[in-house]
Amino acid sequence: MVSGFPNWDPPQFLIDSIQTHLKKGNSINQSTLSNGHPFFLETLASHYSLKYNRKINPMTEICVTPGANYAINHSILSLLEEGDEVVALEPFYPEYLPETYIAGGIFKGVPLTPPPARSREDYRKIFESNEEIEFNKEQDEWKLDLKKFREALNERTRVLILNNPNNPTGKIFTVDELQEIANILLDFPRVIVVSDEVYENVYFDEKIQDIPRFANLPNMWERTINILSAGKIYSATGMRVGWALGPPYLIEPIIQINSINLGSLYSPIQLGVADAFLKSGDNYRGEKTFFDWSRKHYLKGRNRLLKSLTYGNMDFKYWTPQAGYFVLADFKNIKFDEKYYHFESEKKYSSDYAFALWLGNEKKAVGVPMSVFYSPENKHLGENLIRFACCKTEEYFKEVDSKFL
Ligand SMILES: Cc1ncc(COP(=O)(O)O)c(C=O)c1O
Repeated sequence: MVSGFPNWDPPQFLIDSIQTHLKKGNSINQSTLSNGHPFFLETLASHYSLKYNRKINPMTEICVTPGANYAINHSILSLLEEGDEVVALEPFYPEYLPETYIAGGIFKGVPLTPPPARSREDYRKIFESNEEIEFNKEQDEWKLDLKKFREALNERTRVLILNNPNNPTGKIFTVDELQEIANILLDFPRVIVVSDEVYENVYFDEKIQDIPRFANLPNMWERTINILSAGKIYSATGMRVGWALGPPYLIEPIIQINSINLGSLYSPIQLGVADAFLKSGDNYRGEKTFFDWSRKHYLKGRNRLLKSLTYGNMDFKYWTPQAGYFVLADFKNIKFDEKYYHFESEKKYSSDYAFALWLGNEKKAVGVPMSVFYSPENKHLGENLIRFACCKTEEYFKEVDSKFL
């Protein structure tokens, strides 16, 4: 339960189309454009023109990268000058911090605040009443303190990284929340938003047509680089295909860095993903589209992990995420052997590390200590929390049940 790796296969149509393109002779094996293969760029442009409510220019407004990580890295490198500041809401995807440092920047985290987590008894009542388990705004929503957010910004702030849906909390920022952020940014015209939307298709509310997108707010397209990932869309997280999407003046420098760092991404993979996009709108395994099927599959995993936590013997408290690959749990009530604070080490571990070591060694179940998702100043906010991946199947959770005793 450490890794955000779905333990099911990507759709067969993706594998088939990559294989088909691999066999297409010599020219397919040679380099293509640094911003991406033209056919892939056109496919992405038509798909995302619908999501961002505008006609996206495939040649100037998209850059294909080896995974979203590179798209984030190239964005930050293209924007930062020595001493510039990057703000992210925390807990955050840990790569943001070293990527800021690599670019010579200063990192600032602004904590989101959770409500008290729900108990196993609360969840038992839901499971036993046969109601659907749903995200509940009062009980599950991690909130942004706008005052703290404003205080974190200044004239040196160059980048705001927004991760929506958020890893690890699963929070989906609402249009209103995004608008409040946008209103504050009007006072800080230097700030460009890197909107990491890699979990755009892993959300659990069937009523939502699409996630709220920061770039769709009035005047925000011009200030946003959108980050997306084929690995997340197709449950093939090792595939390394991502893209940055935004206005030409922000994308052009990313293409230049791409041409130096990468050259171009291997065409058979790009064309395979392009074909997959074209097929994803068709019926898939009894659902209207592949995207629908995929969301339902992830939802099953989320609910199944909540069930394992609910009927296990450990007194975790936990929230119901709205999106993403993870469930967060509070272990404050669980007693564990103090020796794990110094496990095979002179130094004293924080309680979340000690707990994760205890869980791994004594229960043979593993999760990620939550302090890794906080900035150095705010690591204490994760000291009673652990992250478990829920992008797994029934067989996997049967094994989890046997460990949570
Ligand atoms: C929030 C977030 N952004 C970006 C990435 C990286 O995506 P990719 O695998 O496409 O590089 C991840 C991967 O876990 C992630 O969780």
